[in-house]
Amino acid sequence: MSLQSLIADYQAKTARSRALFEEAQRVLPGGNTRTTVFIDPYPFYATRGAGPRIWDADGNERLDFNGNYTSLILGHAPPAVVATVRELAERGLSFPGPSEHELRLAQELTRRVPSCEQVRFTNSGTEATMLAIRGARAYNGRAKIAKFEGSYHGTHDWVQVSITPPLSGAGSRKRPRAVPAGAGIPPAVLKHVVVLPWNDPEASLRTIEKHARDLACVICEPIQGVAGVIPPAPGFLQVLREVTERHGIVLIFDEVITFRLSAGGAQAVFGVQPDMTTFGKIIGGGLAVGAFGGRADIMAVFDPRGGKPKVAQGGTFNANPLTMAAGLATLRALTPDAYAHLDRLGDRLRDKIRAFFRGRRAKAQVTGQGSLFCLHWTSKRVADFRGSRPTDPEQPLRTYIGLLNEGILLSQRGMGAVSTAMGDAEVDRFVEALGKVLDTEAR
Ligand SMILES: Cc1ncc(COP(=O)(O)O)c(C=O)c1O
Repeated sequence: MSLQSLIADYQAKTARSRALFEEAQRVLPGGNTRTTVFIDPYPFYATRGAGPRIWDADGNERLDFNGNYTSLILGHAPPAVVATVRELAERGLSFPGPSEHELRLAQELTRRVPSCEQVRFTNSGTEATMLAIRGARAYNGRAKIAKFEGSYHGTHDWVQVSITPPLSGAGSRKRPRAVPAGAGIPPAVLKHVVVLPWNDPEASLRTIEKHARDLACVICEPIQGVAGVIPPAPGFLQVLREVTERHGIVLIFDEVITFRLSAGGAQAVFGVQPDMTTFGKIIGGGLAVGAFGGRADIMAVFDPRGGKPKVAQGGTFNANPLTMAAGLATLRALTPDAYAHLDRLGDRLRDKIRAFFRGRRAKAQVTGQGSLFCLHWTSKRVADFRGSRPTDPEQPLRTYIGLLNEGILLSQRGMGAVSTAMGDAEVDRFVEALGKVLDTEAR
């Protein structure tokens, strides 16, 4: 089925969303305030979520494998989290001072993640990576940062570089150039951002060593997320750990997505300890959140005692009690059994998708680990952003809309996650729907 026919089906099911979008265009540019969720002709408007399901303004029910971009690890509206938020909301929504909930969530995070001796909270993953980078600069007095091509770390200038660069201007695979992700990124930023090739230890090592004296930090996701859930090659994170340690460069693991992989995040899974870690998504229990933490001697740059801190971090809603309590309730629900369930479901989903692709001889594959997965529309080995590009550029969007029409919500990129609210039936339904979408396409 063509993209046009798939969109026509979608439009036939989503009249109310279309009407809302038409109104929205008058007061929001392109009717939109979050580029990630925009689709042409218009996105669906969500009205309700419960467990593994989400409903839109036209009453369409879908199984949610997007989970607000991997945030909703317990599914929608988990009763224990909702009860906590409801009870606290009655007692006040935010305060001009710390609350015990902030302390308890900080204790929970530092207990789970030994490399984080101390943490601080923000309202988004974007602020978390921005402040971790500033903290690293304040700590060692250097100005440059290094990030990987394909990695997404939020919307601030320093990391809006080389996320999905057009390859024509992106330099060679081994020595990628710093390419702004959009307009408005000043040239000064590009001069201070060194771009590294994911999963190429020799080339990364060479580039890091070349800039070592100026590098404040190397920031990476232990598994590249938005780039396509691309795990590190064996030993790759160890190489980064060794070279950064040798040169006094702060190694930052951005675990905004990957913290969902185990109680101690991806760093526990791979056995590599960074100097700093950034968090977001699941640690807010569905509410807006971010956090960054690390070695106490680095985090000391934020310590306000004894006069002015080296780095001041304001934020009207930082560590607000509702978010802190929702996050804590969520982490407490993530028992060893819960992680085992997520791992098993993730394996089942990937195995079934693999078998299905093999059976159809599809030029496609699925990557992932634990509860995370991503569909790729290429038969090439997917080891980095460049290798993950689809053979047919329209395929991800056709699949996304096709799945929406079949009652499944994924992300446009093909990235998804299972939640503890799911079981075998939901996973099997996903694979069945994917089969239907690809079969209709073939006709
Ligand atoms: C790895 C990573 N870092 C940072 C961010 C930014 O988080 P937020 O959207 O909360 O600003 C994201 C968002 O998807 C992310 O995937």
